[in-house]
Amino acid sequence: MRWDTVVELPEPADTEAYGEELGRELAAGDLVVLSGPLGAGKTALVRGLARGLKVAGPITSPTFVIAREHRPLPEGPGVPLVHVDAYRLGMVGSVADELDDLDLDTDLTEAVVAVEWGEGVAERLAESHVLVHLERRADDVREARAERVGVRA
Ligand SMILES: Nc1ncnc2c1ncn2[C@@H]1O[C@H](COP(=O)(O)OP(=O)(O)OP(=O)(O)O)[C@@H](O)[C@H]1O
Ligand SMILES: [Mg+2]
Repeated sequence: MRWDTVVELPEPADTEAYGEELGRELAAGDLVVLSGPLGAGKTALVRGLARGLKVAGPITSPTFVIAREHRPLPEGPGVPLVHVDAYRLGMVGSVADELDDLDLDTDLTEAVVAVEWGEGVAERLAESHVLVHLERRADDVREARAERVGVRA
């Protein structure tokens, strides 16, 4: 995984491969925040995360459902993925509080949580997390940069 480096992602498949690479490095209790504008590729990246973590799909862009739980596949490390679309929720509070309110079946300390978030909001996060920032260039190539923010629990 190329941390703290801007990576060019020309095609959706490149974004998925990047997410897959990241997914292989994640462990239970990790929070991944995906920030970037509409259509930047946040959901495409989560699709790759699911592949790297080996959890069941499909990863979709939820319109009504704001959080989806993806169960581990037998061949994977056994960590479920919770995919939250806070972009549509307009979430402003702490991620932990908002997730509590969703009343999910999955114990979040035993899952990887990936949250799609709008621009600038991630900077206000107190919890330690992996921040992936995605940009869409004028030539349609995406640029991604992943960093670990704060101390890992
Ligand atoms: N390099 C690329 N990486 C990712 N998506 C790309 C790329 N090039 C083109 N696309 C297209 O851009 C769109 C990205 O959609 P996606 O739903 O992943 O973005 P998003 O950031 O989750 O958007 P939203 O803000 O609506 O949630 C898709 O239609 C995809 O095919
Ligand atoms: Mg999306």
